Amino acid sequence: MYESYYGLNSKPFQLTPDPAFFFASKWHKRAMSYLQYGLSQAEGFIVITGDIGTGKTTIANSLLADIEDDIVAAQIVTPKLSPDELVKMVAAKFEIDVAGKTKADILKDLEGYLFALSAQGRRALLLVDEAQNLPLETIEELRMLSNFQQAGKPLLQSFLLGQEELQPILRAPNMEQFRQRIVASCHLAPLTPEETQKYIEYRLHHAGWNRTQLFSEKAYELVFKFTRGIPRKINTLLDRILLFGFLEELEVLDESAVKSVIGEVKEELFVPDNSTAQNTEKDVVSENVTGSLDAEDISRSRLITPNGNEVQDAEYYKAMLGELVDALDDAIKHKIKLTQYIDKLLKKKYRAYVRLKEDDKE
Ligand SMILES: Nc1ncnc2c1ncn2[C@@H]1O[C@H](COP(=O)(O)OP(=O)(O)OP(=O)(O)O)[C@@H](O)[C@H]1O
Ligand SMILES: [Mg+2]
Repeated sequence: MYESYYGLNSKPFQLTPDPAFFFASKWHKRAMSYLQYGLSQAEGFIVITGDIGTGKTTIANSLLADIEDDIVAAQIVTPKLSPDELVKMVAAKFEIDVAGKTKADILKDLEGYLFALSAQGRRALLLVDEAQNLPLETIEELRMLSNFQQAGKPLLQSFLLGQEELQPILRAPNMEQFRQRIVASCHLAPLTPEETQKYIEYRLHHAGWNRTQLFSEKAYELVFKFTRGIPRKINTLLDRILLFGFLEELEVLDESAVKSVIGEVKEELFVPDNSTAQNTEKDVVSENVTGSLDAEDISRSRLITPNGNEVQDAEYYKAMLGELVDALDDAIKHKIKLTQYIDKLLKKKYRAYVRLKEDDKE
């Protein structure tokens, strides 16, 4: 509706996770590196957790979009599946006929399918989204599936994506066997204030925005305070702000426009009332609406050690840890590149070997 008014060729803030709009924030970049690293390991489990709406499915879709064709990927989004239902669903996703078959038959067919893939020099990847819904015994069944091997080489690798509730499930004492098969794990955090602005600009440009700045600095601050940097919340809010701007014929979207929309959506999105607030998110909402803005209060947060001592020079340590994390990120990226290179060499050798064997037969 507002697209042509703002010179856009599509809606910039749609809710469907679309790899074409993938914005590589620091955390998203890191999660992507972990996924790629895990993928190059070709075994075990990779776990990505994160708050609701932080971008887990988006990351998974982006990874699937540029996966190599020697990997056959299947994605399942889990309601509360029993172990038997899981086996059925996994097999069906790999296009195995499951109608009227017993679990034992399905497992046999699945194994046969994985063997056949392996014989072609390919392998299978299973992506389990919303994994926090899986009962413990179903996660255990997943582990059993990861036991399919040929000559010591695992035939199925799985990625688990889930909300925070997945973490205590995986930490349960009886999940030790599963834990030992996790090759990489990572937690997605919301965007920082700077990233929130970059995220918004990135999506606008990607949708064809080519004019000067649409939002004022204060507007960005308010958006961050209301959404706390959670991409899905940003999308919902921004879509409404653009609609508001179009209806009010605004060329610049400033603090007052954002405030008006927050006032509207707060009612519509059933944002809990401040009086019953349990967490800071609700405090933020009420601050926004009363307009008491303080841009620096985020960076002024105190840093407390697990023993309750306040770190005096917090900014210094934060910067130092930031640098350390960047250096580790670089190291992981380097390792991924190296592994991919070795992988390619191995594949080349394997193809040469197959050719030689065929020549031998003739
Ligand atoms: N890195 C990103 N780049 C672009 N858009 C993103 C990114 N992360 C999240 N989004 C957007 O935020 C919204 C929510 O993302 P997504 O559905 O991936 O979150 P989720 O973590 O899977 O949520 P849930 O916990 O509800 O499953 C989507 O509209 C998606 O397009
Ligand atoms: Mg999701």
